[in-house]
Amino acid sequence: MTLSIRQLHPHFVGEVGPVDLRAVRDRATLEEIRAGMDRYAVLVFRDQPFTNEEQLDFAQRFDGQLHARTSTAVLVKNRFGNEALSDISNVGADGQILSPDDRRRMGGLANRLWHTDASFVDPPGRYSMLSARVIPPVAADTEFADMRAAYDALDAATRASLEGLMVHHSIAYSREVLGFEFSAAEKEQLKGAVHPLVRTLPGGRRGLYLASHASSIVGWRLPEGRLLLRDLIEHATRPAFVYSHHWQPGDFVIWDNRATMHRARPFDDTTYRRELRRTTTLDIAPDSVPDGVPDGAPAAQAV
Ligand code: OGA
Ligand code: MN
Repeated sequence: MTLSIRQLHPHFVGEVGPVDLRAVRDRATLEEIRAGMDRYAVLVFRDQPFTNEEQLDFAQRFDGQLHARTSTAVLVKNRFGNEALSDISNVGADGQILSPDDRRRMGGLANRLWHTDASFVDPPGRYSMLSARVIPPVAADTEFADMRAAYDALDAATRASLEGLMVHHSIAYSREVLGFEFSAAEKEQLKGAVHPLVRTLPGGRRGLYLASHASSIVGWRLPEGRLLLRDLIEHATRPAFVYSHHWQPGDFVIWDNRATMHRARPFDDTTYRRELRRTTTLDIAPDSVPDGVPDGAPAAQAV
């Protein structure tokens, strides 16, 4: 099957023409979607009436093993009884909108920080797939930033200075920034993970790998590391690199966490119901560098 893809932003994001992902099972079409992901980093599919089971099945068919330890799953129990299906909603087990001080609501607020899913564990998330079930009548958008375009836009000296740097990612850090406190035992449990600051992506392009969880640069003094990370996040989320997704019910958006950051935008979440479900795959082999593209290949030029 040949998919038609229309680019929605000068750098990235493709909207895929009519297709029912529940019925897509053949390897050739799944690989076509992967090729689309390599090129656009975010793909938007409209009118995908997934049930929870169908969404879980598609995610595994498409990209293998699912991640069960992404953001809120680390902190609060999941109402679907399956940690691989993340409850991205402001609704509780009783079906009611969460009260302002509800623990899950407070944890979910951290999605408003620019991040990549599960960068605080190893393996982190590769593809995240968000299915929109109930969407409020007011804007409650998700923004995506292209980390490849951001990398390409750095000058050569800056790019060279980032070579080989390793970053520590911790969910305790991103939550502490928002004023949450953790006991010593919780911190021990949430030790975090170390990932390279620059990644080579399939096809050879390179991207910054950043997130709100990025807490320090390994081997650097804390203030200098944190300042560099802040500078890079500021650079990478300039309007030129950002696409804002305005949700419709039935939308299914897949993003590559290796090549993008994303964040939720605020809305009146104690008045309006918003329910999405997320599946995320583990960033394990088959991964990154295809045959013949050595790590450290020269960056492609910005478009
Ligand atoms: C996510 C996420 C943002 C949003 O599902 O990983 O960050 O707008 N969602 O709900
Ligand atoms: Mn997220």
